[in-house]
Amino acid sequence: MAKVTMKPGTMLNPVPAVMVSCGNKDEQNIITIAWTGIINSEPPMTYVSVRKSRHSHHLISESGEFVINLTTEALAKATDFCGVKSGRDMDKYKMTGLTQEDAEIVSCKMIKESPVNLECKVVEVKEYPSHDMFIAEIVKVHADEKYFDENGRICLDRAGMLCYNHGEYFGLKRAPIGQFGFSIMKPKTRKRINREKQEIKSKKKKRIK
Ligand SMILES: Cc1cc2nc3c(=O)[nH]c(=O)nc-3n(C[C@H](O)[C@H](O)[C@H](O)COP(=O)(O)O)c2cc1C
Repeated sequence: MAKVTMKPGTMLNPVPAVMVSCGNKDEQNIITIAWTGIINSEPPMTYVSVRKSRHSHHLISESGEFVINLTTEALAKATDFCGVKSGRDMDKYKMTGLTQEDAEIVSCKMIKESPVNLECKVVEVKEYPSHDMFIAEIVKVHADEKYFDENGRICLDRAGMLCYNHGEYFGLKRAPIGQFGFSIMKPKTRKRINREKQEIKSKKKKRIK
């Protein structure tokens, strides 16, 4: 079958749908953002691309700080709401029932219900015609303790994470197709990993009994 050629566009899918919290001592806001990603590992760096007309744009510009709050299926409705209503007209924390939680380094609040919060400090702003790209260093990460296994590893597969694909929200609850490197994994390594997973499962079962 032939490919259909389309005009140039932002056709990158799927993308995350995160709730970015921002604000100052007088006001706290939340904006839903799909245009975000990681751009460096050491130091850990990210960006959010925010349309100049958004209320959050001026909050982030002025404070130079924001928090990326990861979202889950349980948070899908709130995520959508924060992406269609403006903080210019309402308090989105009140409207969604989300809870403010103090961050450790930045002065804006984090969303308590989110499984993972990334505190970010803006280091550079790249201006484009429609959006500005706030490039930031991730200065602290908070993760809900209930997603850690007994070996201290974070298991986000248990959190029911959310993503956004061409206008629709999707959960990630299906079993994974494979783990990092599975395409080149030796049978011996695969066996060992499966054995380790099995051991963790049976330990858990014993604890439940
Ligand atoms: C799933 C989703 C993703 C979005 N991604 C972005 C984005 O990356 N950048 C942006 O400027 N607006 C994005 N928006 C739109 C804003 O979230 C929306 O205009 C919001 O109402 C702005 O809130 P504010 O005026 O309180 O800042 C997105 C909306 C949704 C629903």
